[in-house]
Amino acid sequence: MTKTDQDYILSIRDVSKSFPGVKALDSVSMDIRRGSIHGIVGENGAGKSTLMKILSGVYTRDSGTIVFDGEEIKSITPHESMQKGLSIIYQEFNLVKTMSVGENIFLGRFKEMKGMRGTHEKARELLDSIGCNISTHKLVSELSVSERQMIEIAKALSFDSKLIIMDEPSSSLTTEEMRKLVDIINQLKEKGITIIYISHKLDEIFQLCDTVTVMRDGQVIDTRPISEYTRADMISMMVGRTIENEFPERPNCVGDILMEVRSLNTRKLRNVSFKLRKGEILGLVGLVGAGRTEIVRAIFGADKVKNHEILIEGKPVRIRKPSDAIEYGIGFVPEDRKIEGLVLPFAVDTNITMACLDSLTKYGFLNESSEKGIAQKHVDALDIKTPSLKTRVENLSGGNQQKCIVGRWLEIKPRILILDEPTRGIDVGAKYEIYLLMKKIVEDGGSIILISSELPEVLNMSNRVLTICDGRITGEFDPTKTSADEIMASAIGLCGEENEYESNYESAI
Ligand SMILES: Nc1ncnc2c1ncn2[C@@H]1O[C@H](COP(=O)(O)OP(=O)(O)OP(=O)(O)O)[C@@H](O)[C@H]1O
Ligand SMILES: [Mg+2]
Repeated sequence: MTKTDQDYILSIRDVSKSFPGVKALDSVSMDIRRGSIHGIVGENGAGKSTLMKILSGVYTRDSGTIVFDGEEIKSITPHESMQKGLSIIYQEFNLVKTMSVGENIFLGRFKEMKGMRGTHEKARELLDSIGCNISTHKLVSELSVSERQMIEIAKALSFDSKLIIMDEPSSSLTTEEMRKLVDIINQLKEKGITIIYISHKLDEIFQLCDTVTVMRDGQVIDTRPISEYTRADMISMMVGRTIENEFPERPNCVGDILMEVRSLNTRKLRNVSFKLRKGEILGLVGLVGAGRTEIVRAIFGADKVKNHEILIEGKPVRIRKPSDAIEYGIGFVPEDRKIEGLVLPFAVDTNITMACLDSLTKYGFLNESSEKGIAQKHVDALDIKTPSLKTRVENLSGGNQQKCIVGRWLEIKPRILILDEPTRGIDVGAKYEIYLLMKKIVEDGGSIILISSELPEVLNMSNRVLTICDGRITGEFDPTKTSADEIMASAIGLCGEENEYESNYESAI
């Protein structure tokens, strides 16, 4: 045991880690001040999550030293690191969906809690301490993403954590939920808990962090107090070049009506009707749970819906399952890439070409060189960081996994591309690339339905915006003429006014 400077809870010195074909961390050093909120930013694949997984004992480092709370950590298991007071909330959550909230918080520690009753009582106390009123008996599978995150935070608190690492905690949260998270993080800081906060959303980094480290290609570029960065500095340090604008010029090629959706009704949705034009980017804005994803899943045939009508180019079409939708030229980049998008144990090339396998197969045999060519094209275009086309997708960084799905749908050149949170977890540079691709799709005559919780993204990219609240369309806006506040007000506030939107609908379009 060596003593370290009392000011720092964690000192990382010259830590390196390689995976086959990649040097994920190259002599990384960093000091984390006690009681601070320390941000880490960097492009997809920069090594942020790998470093955190080394700290929490999921991976072992190849070399380097780590001193946590005055004690040198030689090797550690995830359980030991939690017991020492270091907790991590992963980019992809780590909860058991079939178990209750209380059981998840105290998993493996029911005895310590004196049985189930004690477990639920203590879980209640922890959840109350962060202002969260979810029942401890609810199953995790019934919770929203933001609720699951609260459970992860309660779990970290249950170990009396001194340091909590949050790896992209906000990537699935809406503005409201984010506000709540900011409050909780500030409360944790007041209690003296140190936070490492990883995010691609620079607004949050500037709002929350005291100190920020920028990483690129497995190395630390710099660590500075937040006051010594400008947004532009930070971005250019992350990507290694200067980026002038975060959004390209808005595409302007809206044509005739391509698709019409009439009377979409489900348990959640109430009489959703709208039109989508050729060459249009139509943004859907609403809180998580408002029904945005339900709308697009219904159009794609992913959920069973009765008695609604969909017309494409004026002709009624029947879409009962996703393959019908693909047949009509509809593509879908889903919200939860792990569940509905990627086949994790499969290689990068297979994941990219999955939606166009029919065209790659002749007499039941796959044309491997075409598969390779197509996959390589998207790996290059989207700058997907992978050691090879045969690397399993599960070994890619979070953002690079997302790029694989985007590549898959670009390949089938859909007439209508549905993008549900397409840039979640994607770094600034790659976001811009995705915006350019969206622009190209509509310029080539395709149409896009865009769902995003990042309001600036919807407002800067869409030609028209529909607000969704409580399963209903509550408004329609031209984002060049309406303020963000007005659009948000409609997404949150106009819920009570039944048929408000419908009365304007025909005249508006
Ligand atoms: N288990 C693994 N096997 C092989 N390669 C891996 C593994 N885990 C990570 N890598 C590679 O290490 C590099 C760093 O990945 P890491 O997940 O740390 O990036 P990140 O900075 O967290 O990116 P993101 O912002 O996309 O989450 C990437 O090139 C990734 O492909
Ligand atoms: Mg990561």
